[in-house]
Amino acid sequence: MPLYRPWMGCCVVSVGWLAGCSGPAPSATPAGEPVGWSDEVQLQTVTDLSADPRVLEVSLEARLGEVEILPGVKTTLWTYNGGVPGPLLRGQVGDRLIVHFKNSLPEPTSIHWHGLRIPNEMDGVPDEPYPPVAPGGSFDYDFVLPDAGTYWYHPHYSSAAQLGYGLYGPLIVDDPSAPAGLGDEVVLVLSDIGIEDGGRLAPADGGGDFGTLFGREGNAMLVNGKLLPALNVRRGVRQRWRLINAAKARYFQLELAGTPLVRIGGDGGLLEAPEQLTRLLLTPAQRADVVVAPAPAEGEDELALKFVPYDRGTGTAFNRPVEDLLRLRFSDEPSSPSPALPPLGRDLPTLDAAGATPVDISLTVGTDAIGNLEMGINGVPSRNAEPVMASLGQRQIWKIENTFEFDHPFHLHGYFFQVVDVDGQAPGRREWHDTVNVPVNGSLRFVVDFDSRPGMWMFHCHILDHADAGMMGMVHVH
Ligand code: C2O
Ligand code: CU
Ligand code: CU
Repeated sequence: MPLYRPWMGCCVVSVGWLAGCSGPAPSATPAGEPVGWSDEVQLQTVTDLSADPRVLEVSLEARLGEVEILPGVKTTLWTYNGGVPGPLLRGQVGDRLIVHFKNSLPEPTSIHWHGLRIPNEMDGVPDEPYPPVAPGGSFDYDFVLPDAGTYWYHPHYSSAAQLGYGLYGPLIVDDPSAPAGLGDEVVLVLSDIGIEDGGRLAPADGGGDFGTLFGREGNAMLVNGKLLPALNVRRGVRQRWRLINAAKARYFQLELAGTPLVRIGGDGGLLEAPEQLTRLLLTPAQRADVVVAPAPAEGEDELALKFVPYDRGTGTAFNRPVEDLLRLRFSDEPSSPSPALPPLGRDLPTLDAAGATPVDISLTVGTDAIGNLEMGINGVPSRNAEPVMASLGQRQIWKIENTFEFDHPFHLHGYFFQVVDVDGQAPGRREWHDTVNVPVNGSLRFVVDFDSRPGMWMFHCHILDHADAGMMGMVHVH
């Protein structure tokens, strides 16, 4: 059996799992991808300061950085450690993550660990309980990685602007007992950025209220901070993609020229069974763990992963082109077809909705006293909202109602939930989510156990312009 998991063995908890391996040089086997196959999308690495293999201790600094996005043009972005995306953080379930964070930006910021079930005081929401990190200030995040899966981190202060300027990074938690042999792996952070001619960042408030209502998308789509990068791959050989939508407003709908995208995991780790798709939709903040075995048509040596505009209501797909996001360049190296996908072997419990306490949430839009656009939950913008109450250990069923002419990606911090139905239709599979799409003029219900970790937990629309305009609330677990 070829070794498919380059982070095992030599870099058990190291985050520098590509660059930092000091074991024997990787040699391509006919079953794997060519050496250096994913170099164009190489993520930043970071040094593990701890000698303890179960502790991942790193330094992150938020600072301005000069980054080349447009060829030959430097753009001043907001970065973690100087690059976009921020460094790949990678550990195993049960490892302790310590992040010495320093804010060298001109405004306050914080780091939120999206999707992780960690203590409330580590969640990075300003004033719950800690204030944001002031310019020049620092903060130590310190928690145990609770669940295997694909996660990410981003600021929770002025989020639409700060994410849009480049602040986001991937975090992967491995489970050493998970099935191996899924394919050579690459982490792909999808995002976009607004860059004007000459390389300046577009302002975060462009388009006024209309920009807010629509959700601001950058004009350049990025994969690991690059415009249209390439992977060098072998024909028909299976590879594993950890996809993260880190854009502040854009829905990524992906297609690979008819090649099936086999989804094996989502927000909360592996699925119970793989799901075969020809199109994959990722709302802002959602993740997908996907395996593909691409092969080009006769006589071709390239395929492109395409962005296909997704209709999330009024005008959002109208006249928008399909665009290439990532190229797959097929090498001439011999290949043999990958063995069958091993069973995922994961059994999820069912959160029974019977007897769960109902909570009704409606996503609303209106205007404030002086006529400015104001979004809210149940008609109340976040700054005036009373928290939803949940007692520790309580099971609740939330109904999220959307009377808007746009879809909204709804996100709850700190807890995974299971969808009961979307517009009355049961999803037909159990899955852990932290972010779900609530369709136009529709509703969605989910069940959640507030089983541990009391505190003030945030929920909001992950179109971050909407969140900043008031479509946020808190649930007080006590
Ligand atoms: Cu990605 Cu409030 O979170
Ligand atoms: Cu979150
Ligand atoms: Cu929204």
